Amino acid sequence: MRNTFFSLPQASAIAGKVDGLFLFLIGLTGLILLGISSAIVFLSWRYHKSREPDRSAPPPSHLLLEAAWTGIPLAVCAVIFIWGTKLYLDMHPLRGKARDVYVVGMQWMWKVQHPQGPREINSLHVPVGERIRLVLTSEDVIHSFYVPAFRIKQDAVPGMYTSLDFQAVRPGTYHLFCAEYCGSPHHSMGGEVVVMEPAAFEHWLATGGDRGPGASETLAQRGAAIFRAQGCSGCHGVSPTVRAPALEGLYGRSVPLQEGGLVLADEAYLRESIYFPQRKIAAGYAPVMPSFQGRINEEDMLALIAYLRSLGDARKNGEIQ
Ligand code: CUA
Repeated sequence: MRNTFFSLPQASAIAGKVDGLFLFLIGLTGLILLGISSAIVFLSWRYHKSREPDRSAPPPSHLLLEAAWTGIPLAVCAVIFIWGTKLYLDMHPLRGKARDVYVVGMQWMWKVQHPQGPREINSLHVPVGERIRLVLTSEDVIHSFYVPAFRIKQDAVPGMYTSLDFQAVRPGTYHLFCAEYCGSPHHSMGGEVVVMEPAAFEHWLATGGDRGPGASETLAQRGAAIFRAQGCSGCHGVSPTVRAPALEGLYGRSVPLQEGGLVLADEAYLRESIYFPQRKIAAGYAPVMPSFQGRINEEDMLALIAYLRSLGDARKNGEIQ
């Protein structure tokens, strides 16, 4: 929680660690630059022809030297790899409790959806000290969700979900950018992240954000309305006209497939099954479901998934995927 490092605040739990790795890399490349430049200057001087160097018996090999120039870079690269992987896993943990927030990038804005209902455009409100898990996707091209003060950056890719965990450590307002060129107004695709005390955040959840029609609904309630409006309940409901898999308790469960094998019913699988129902047929069911591509956009998809999740979550202990 220092205001150091080129005066950019370290406003997330991981910021100091990322700065540590970054400074290590800067220091390391500085050392290499110094070493190579010195060697160039020294060798140019030492073996200049005016000094008449002895070139009569060049050594055919030098085992120690060769082992050193192989072993030392290998060790240094291994350190960088392990250090970087550790930080990556901190940002993409496999388990642990987190507050989900859904983010859809589109030309040229960030749309944020809280499961409790509030929606935001080009802003993200989060409580301080709590682990937040962003689930990101894009409506069109690749965007990149970037908060420099948190030292976090994650691509939002059309056609898939990516995730990013962070924990803000002090209240304040921080810049949010898109860090992937996504068309001429790319520069204007940004906003702010507002970190609030937990009580103030709860108040904001109840009263803030987009207060337009439906703002009092939770994401799952909005998803339930889409589920009915799209006619999903005709097959997946209580008295179906077509035999379709039950959706209660589906989220987080392993689903046996027609072609053999299992698939975990996570956000990505549910989305794929709604847009491309023929790709992974659940064992024992006919491949009769139509695709909903073009009928449900990415925001509505997140609402639908939240609804399916509200029907029963098989994940235990807050396990993530
Ligand atoms: Cu979105 Cu750049």
